[in-house]
Amino acid sequence: MTRVAIVTGGTRGIGEAISLALKEQGRTVVANYAGNDAKAKAFAEARGIRVYKWDVGDHEACLAGCRQVEEEVGPVDIVVNNAGITRDGTLARMTYDDWHDVMRINLGGCFNMAKACFPGMVARGWGRIVNIGSINGQAGQYGQVNYAAAKSGIHGFTKALAQEGAKKGVTVNAIAPGYIDTDMVAAVPAPVLEKIIAKIPVGRLGHADEIARGVTFLTSDDAGFITGSTMSLNGGQHMY
Ligand code: CAA
Repeated sequence: MTRVAIVTGGTRGIGEAISLALKEQGRTVVANYAGNDAKAKAFAEARGIRVYKWDVGDHEACLAGCRQVEEEVGPVDIVVNNAGITRDGTLARMTYDDWHDVMRINLGGCFNMAKACFPGMVARGWGRIVNIGSINGQAGQYGQVNYAAAKSGIHGFTKALAQEGAKKGVTVNAIAPGYIDTDMVAAVPAPVLEKIIAKIPVGRLGHADEIARGVTFLTSDDAGFITGSTMSLNGGQHMY
């Protein structure tokens, strides 16, 4: 029986690359999404990956969505908490909603998915959770107090939950991507992005499949001794 993996935000950007890589690795992949039904349907048909819609920031919806996956697909062994949004702006311009939405989805989503899936992993004695953090959670970033706080929170969440899973065969790790060539990064104003790229030692943006390869490794049987760690995949932009 193949292991079941859920990738949140798994139909676009880094999440899409992770879904595809896990499928190629032989996992039974479920891609969660929250937004565009037509795009998700097209993704499901093109990739042969089941899609399920719920808002990871909604606690009850998340529990119900994961329960449905377990009934229809099987027990969830691998969770990749990838879903995330940005609401960039300097503190002066940032609204409470900008703050709250980012905390609720980016950080709250990790809690909600863990509440739904971690107990089953512990009961079965095997599990893998990979949380997608960010270079901006490690180093901070101008105009991102909300996003940097949520991503930094993800790194703390990872280290704490890793301690709870360690003796039970469940590893919990984070990947901290740098700037990757996705729609999210393309939304950064061009002059700002040019300055950021100039500071990346390898001299380019990363590719989504370079993050996905980190996920396939951390979720493999070979990675059983790695837990509570952060894999920084950022082209040398922040060596942490
Ligand atoms: N450090 C110090 N000062 C800075 C700065 C920086 N990094 N960036 C901008 N400033 C200064 C500018 O020089 C400018 O100063 P003056 O007014 O004295 O000229 C002032 O701040 C205003 O700058 P902007 O014109 O950029 O301000 P804005 O209000 O138009 O935009 C912003 C603010 C939306 C935050 C914009 O700067 C921005 O988008 N920055 C990029 C944020 C970013 O990197 N987001 C990453 C998104 S992708 C992602 O998050 C994925 C991931 O995990 C990596």
